[in-house]
Amino acid sequence: MSSIETEVVTVDPEAADAGVIERAADLIRAGDLVAFPTETVYGLGANALLPEAVAAIFEAKGRPSFNPLIVHVADVDEAKKIVAVWPPEAEILARAFWPGPLSIVLPRRSVVPDAVTGGRSTVAVRVPANPVALALLRASGVPVAAPSANRSEQLSPTTASHVLAGLSGLIPFILDGGPTAAGIESTVIAITGAEVRLLRPGPISRDEIGVLIGQTVHLPDGKPQDVHSEFASPGQMLRHYAPRAKLSISHHPEAEVEKLLSFGERVGRLSYAKHANADLHGLTVITMPHEPNNYAAALYARLHELDSLGVTRIVVDAPPTDERWLAIWDRLTRAST
Ligand code: TXA
Ligand code: MG
Repeated sequence: MSSIETEVVTVDPEAADAGVIERAADLIRAGDLVAFPTETVYGLGANALLPEAVAAIFEAKGRPSFNPLIVHVADVDEAKKIVAVWPPEAEILARAFWPGPLSIVLPRRSVVPDAVTGGRSTVAVRVPANPVALALLRASGVPVAAPSANRSEQLSPTTASHVLAGLSGLIPFILDGGPTAAGIESTVIAITGAEVRLLRPGPISRDEIGVLIGQTVHLPDGKPQDVHSEFASPGQMLRHYAPRAKLSISHHPEAEVEKLLSFGERVGRLSYAKHANADLHGLTVITMPHEPNNYAAALYARLHELDSLGVTRIVVDAPPTDERWLAIWDRLTRAST
């Protein structure tokens, strides 16, 4: 792929410049790629109705084509144009959580090309809760397929400079709306069979969803209980969300850090415990928030930061194991394999 000029344009999320949004929307309609902020992570968007535009996403990311994309729309009416059925559970959840970090997998309509879904009969759809994203979706007037705006298997971007670091020279346009709020990718659920299934844990929990629809949200293997089992969303089998440095989750971080330093590694530690600031040579300590949403909001940015400092190893203090931390365990586990 030949290198192209990547333009980064800053937009104020509170008062997005209509001219800038219109330019980005023109690019989307014409089949070009635009990276834009959502409330979770930055997305790499393309017109979901144009197979060649969608193919360009896979090329820029180096992403395997069997891994399907989430389609972003401006509202429920637009969602209904790409799904074949709109079950009562979808209506309840869309009313409660959209715009917001919940992607719903439903049977697709034939307007959605195979390129988006990897040939599946289903499509994932969501309305993002970021004013820049919503302005772009409204202005472009088309559904926008968008994975996270990173090279495949790299950390998801939570700032425009993260996007630029990974995709500079590969995409024409980045809308910079500042850092994203939630910091980890949306919750993905499937409403395609007899039961509702969680395909990827995220900012909206299984409990919140289950309470609203009055039924248990099952894990992909059908088990209602074991929150640490494998997830079956197609993209979830990949090594994912990984920093460059080798990452380990540790129950004995002090000892592990000392061992790694003694081997000459440059170590970054995401510390959960409150502890005296270790000023050991070769060690960078970052203290993480104790509340899971705040932890999630900080996680990728801190990992990007450690990568840019050039650490060779990252030690993450094992966080709590209750279900509120499920999405964080999911991302950390993937980053460590
Ligand atoms: O927060 C997010 O969801 C971000 C922002 C940009 O919206 N997007 C994102 O996209 O994380 P991506 O492509 O990195 O992850 C999409 C996930 C993958 O795990 C994929 O396998 C799953 O959604 N997915 C998409 N369509 C699916 C389908 N039809 N059936 C099952 N899983 C699907
Ligand atoms: Mg991704």
